[in-house]
Amino acid sequence: MNVFLLSKQFQAVLIYFLLITFSFSLRAADSPLLIKNLGEGHYMVRINTNQKFFLLPVEETAPDVRISMIINNEEVKWLDVRLAMHKVDYFVPVDISSYSGRTISCKFKLQTNDPLHTNFSPENTVCCKEMRLSDTFDTANREKYRPTYHFSPLYGWMNDPNGMVYKDGEYHLFYQYNPYGSQWGNLSWGHAITKDLVNWKHLPVAIAPDALGTIFSGSAVVDYDNTAGFGAGAIVAIYTQSSDRQVQSIAYSTDNGRSFTKYENNPVLVSEVCDFRDPKVFWHAETHRWIMVLAVGQEMQIFSSPNLKDWTFESRFGEGQGAHGGVWECPDLFELPVEGTNDKKWVLLCNLNPGGPFGGSATQYFVGSFNGKEFVNESPSKTKWMDWGKDHYATVTWSDAPDNRRIAIAWMSNWQYANDVPTSQYRSPNSVPRDLSLFAADGEIYLKSAPSPELLKLRDISKKRSFKVSGTRTVKEMIPGNEGAYEIELTIKNQHADIIGFRLYNDKGEEVDMQYDMKENKFSMDRRKSGDVSFNENFPTLTWTAIESGRNELKLRLFVDKSSVEAFGDGGRFAMTNQVFPSEPYCHIGFYSKGGSYKVDSFVVYRLKP
Ligand code: FRU
Repeated sequence: MNVFLLSKQFQAVLIYFLLITFSFSLRAADSPLLIKNLGEGHYMVRINTNQKFFLLPVEETAPDVRISMIINNEEVKWLDVRLAMHKVDYFVPVDISSYSGRTISCKFKLQTNDPLHTNFSPENTVCCKEMRLSDTFDTANREKYRPTYHFSPLYGWMNDPNGMVYKDGEYHLFYQYNPYGSQWGNLSWGHAITKDLVNWKHLPVAIAPDALGTIFSGSAVVDYDNTAGFGAGAIVAIYTQSSDRQVQSIAYSTDNGRSFTKYENNPVLVSEVCDFRDPKVFWHAETHRWIMVLAVGQEMQIFSSPNLKDWTFESRFGEGQGAHGGVWECPDLFELPVEGTNDKKWVLLCNLNPGGPFGGSATQYFVGSFNGKEFVNESPSKTKWMDWGKDHYATVTWSDAPDNRRIAIAWMSNWQYANDVPTSQYRSPNSVPRDLSLFAADGEIYLKSAPSPELLKLRDISKKRSFKVSGTRTVKEMIPGNEGAYEIELTIKNQHADIIGFRLYNDKGEEVDMQYDMKENKFSMDRRKSGDVSFNENFPTLTWTAIESGRNELKLRLFVDKSSVEAFGDGGRFAMTNQVFPSEPYCHIGFYSKGGSYKVDSFVVYRLKP
């Protein structure tokens, strides 16, 4: 073998690669994107364009890169992006249209000292080759798990619902949003509106991070009497800003939420406590002032204000009450009538993470009284959960909903695995909207969560059956054209069965098994064989709830939407929400009985329209 010749070939290959590398790392001097290496994980990208988007390639397992966008020597925006090092999982768009015609200098800085990544430089990362400018960004759905009638962001990460307020025929939904990746980060308030709680219109980001921090959870009110001086009827958002500490800020909108102006004297409320967040504000007519409930460590604190700007501490609630397995977050406080009586009681929603009944996050609530200063729980020894599944968190309600309705929505995930669920264009959706009311059982007052009546509008073709189950009974192809979005309405009469069971399943053998245990008085949902459960050890679970004893007739509504099952028993006296990731829709159902038989008086399946 001619060694000299080989090394010549090797040299040629090397020169070729060097040339390629050199040309892409700098790009042409007149290119609208000029990349310069600054060494040790720093580099500079200069943008000169009239195009709308700077598209950044993301690799979900890569470390964050802090991008600081500078115009005329001032930082105008910063964001953290998991820039692709080895492969591109997806792109995220940075809207640069408001800087059109200006030169933007972007400083990139790797956010880790991990030696594994310190070789980060334009020459050896995919992102520099792939980042580009564009006038368009494709938001067409790419996810088979995307629900059709639940709200989900077009792209990017979502957690808590925020700022829910109704005004002029529109329900506003703001939400914890990362526009620059499908994992938690860059917290901003995303925004959508709906007129009917089932059809959503996506709007641009409403409130973005600033020098006081990222925009965490909070609420919004309509200031009809102009108490804050931003204008009568202004929508005022009250939210936490998070950096090293957490403080409360406000912003207002005089165009029905289409744009917000941040109050110049933010923050409006500060503390020495580090977990100090998620303000829920409402107008308390009796004392004629605004009330704020705030989650502070493992308690709720109540403040009052005449004008949304100046806040006075009133009281604290929490010690010795309910579950304390984690921090308390995202409170809500409202009054509801007790069904069948002339009584009204106050409900304090208290989201908790971790410490839920099946691990991770969950929503507990307290029922009692509120006098404008203090909330008193009437059953201090009881812990009450609003939903008995694993994927029902950060539940809050709409302010000013019409007809005195109290409508709640939850984030349909769990902090144990929210960042790992097997979707990437977006993560994760919300629950269906639920109308809340109170009912009495066994001397206690409980919260009932009924699917909002607007969901009836989604019903498309249906099929009704009735039959007896003694042993097993299978219904193959429950409904024609089943793409995984349907509702099941069941009325069952027990005829001495110990177990009344039914499993939704597909041809891959994946299933969600549900059971009424009539001896133990329990309802359960088992998703351990529901499809992909491997992405996190906390995902495969069986969840269950106690049901009232001595019932012979059982009523259940199941809402299935591609990657979730929500069960509502007896009009919402219990609710159970769980995500599932089957490789194809569950098109069949298998009923079974143990220890006796039961009659399915009515089994109706509705295909639901998107
Ligand atoms: C609840 C929560 C809130 C916080 C927000 C941050 O899920 O932790 O307490 O404001 O998420 O995204």
